[in-house]
Amino acid sequence: MIRDATAFDYAAIRQVVRHAFDQNDEANLVEQLRTDGDALVELVAASDIAIEGHILYSPLAIVREHETLRAAALAPVSVLPAFQKRGIGGELIRAGNARCRELGCVGVVVLGHAAYYPRFGFSPQIAESLQAPFSGPHFMALEFEAGALTAGGKVRYAKAFGV
Ligand SMILES: CC(C)(COP(=O)(O)OP(=O)(O)OC[C@H]1O[C@@H](n2cnc3c(N)ncnc32)[C@H](O)[C@@H]1OP(=O)(O)O)[C@@H](O)C(=O)NCCC(=O)NCCS
Repeated sequence: MIRDATAFDYAAIRQVVRHAFDQNDEANLVEQLRTDGDALVELVAASDIAIEGHILYSPLAIVREHETLRAAALAPVSVLPAFQKRGIGGELIRAGNARCRELGCVGVVVLGHAAYYPRFGFSPQIAESLQAPFSGPHFMALEFEAGALTAGGKVRYAKAFGV
């Protein structure tokens, strides 16, 4: 079941993120984003007994000369190693993207596995006109309105990313 994360889940989420990445950095990032009020969408994949996966999106501003658009940055997504390759990561990404769209975001950017995210509609071509701290095949975007991201602009990540 995919549902919103609640404060009761936070300790378990920390463990899921730590085990997925085999380090603390991403779990610390999740907590800093929450502390800063930048957890725009935070979902968990939960069974009756455990949290198996987690995804977080933070606000991403796309600043153009006469307007600033609201988009989202997907990071991080984590599935406990024992539960990987069963479709949980995909369910989290689809549900999270849909939630960002409902919230009025014009698109989503991600820095991640170039062979994985294209199956959800992300592409490096959509991201390439953005002025961002990242570029190349791992920096991908998905747009909900045609041209919303390909028209370019300077991206501003949430503070916790430190970029
Ligand atoms: C990436 C991750 C969230 C996917 O979760 P999942 O539940 O296993 O995902 P799904 O079952 O929906 O999809 C599995 C697919 O993801 C692919 N995948 C996983 N890691 C990948 C990687 N590093 N590069 C490319 N593809 C990858 C698998 O090969 C598999 O492909 P297949 O469907 O062709 O067999 C999970 O592997 C994870 O937590 N990894 C460690 C943390 C991480 O790397 N997060 C993403 C950072 S960008």
